[in-house]
Amino acid sequence: MFPLVDLRRFFWLIVPILWCCQTSLSELRVRVRLEDGQITEETLQADSERDCITLEFRKTDGTFVTYLADFKQSVKIFRVLILGELERGQSQFQALCFITQLQSNEIIPSESMAKLRQKNPHTVRQAEEMRKIENLQMDVAVNFTKALQLSPHVHNICAEAKEAIYTRQDDVRAWLEKGIDGSMFEVLPQSSSLPALPTCKVCSREWKPCICSYRLSLEWIPCSLKYCKNRDSSGRTTTYKCGIRSCQKSYSFHFYVTQKQLCLWDEET
Ligand SMILES: *[C@@H]1O[C@H](CO)[C@@H](O)[C@H](O)[C@H]1NC(C)=O
Repeated sequence: MFPLVDLRRFFWLIVPILWCCQTSLSELRVRVRLEDGQITEETLQADSERDCITLEFRKTDGTFVTYLADFKQSVKIFRVLILGELERGQSQFQALCFITQLQSNEIIPSESMAKLRQKNPHTVRQAEEMRKIENLQMDVAVNFTKALQLSPHVHNICAEAKEAIYTRQDDVRAWLEKGIDGSMFEVLPQSSSLPALPTCKVCSREWKPCICSYRLSLEWIPCSLKYCKNRDSSGRTTTYKCGIRSCQKSYSFHFYVTQKQLCLWDEET
């Protein structure tokens, strides 16, 4: 309707076709507001050669979050490094890794990401679309040594979380169908197991096993491409990529821990 106005809104996405491809790595830093109101900086890296995108940021409490989309393997990996409370007998940090299938509408392709440029890098960005929170029952443990088959990135990203790599039974089923070696997976006790496992939140004893929850939110993620229409001199309409749509997406992971001590953030307040 008003293509000029629209174009100005998408102005920060420039698609330089002729000279961009010297390197396959590109980086974008985007300022975002976290749920607690604090500002942080997301680093988005696209590697078009390895066909992956990494998104990283630090939360206000020091937790470091990494999200990696591996398009080659259709796998996404979340890693969180949570700073421990030393006075409560925890180690310096606790690492968690969650691996699950990458869906098609979650994030734009790596080659589009590599072409994304930002006009005003100091602007605090707000996602255009709020997607609903996804609950994931991470009820399977993944053997770090064998996980290379799922994605070559696991060894790099999950190295600190060797004992805490989780996935879901649904994902395992899909991977087994693709011929991935099932011996890397081990089904964990679940909340429906007998004897029933409590959530760590209500479990009063620190040394008992329980189901822990960890919630994380990606405040700004380029989730889809926008297309614009153009009419050429002969009156024919063509469409072209003219921008991205950004989304906010939250996840709540639920997973087995051998003791409540390993889940101290998940407490009644
Ligand atoms: C993971 O796999 C390796 C290699 O087969 C094996 O040596 C190791 O014991 C396994 N770890 C666990 C926790 O099962």
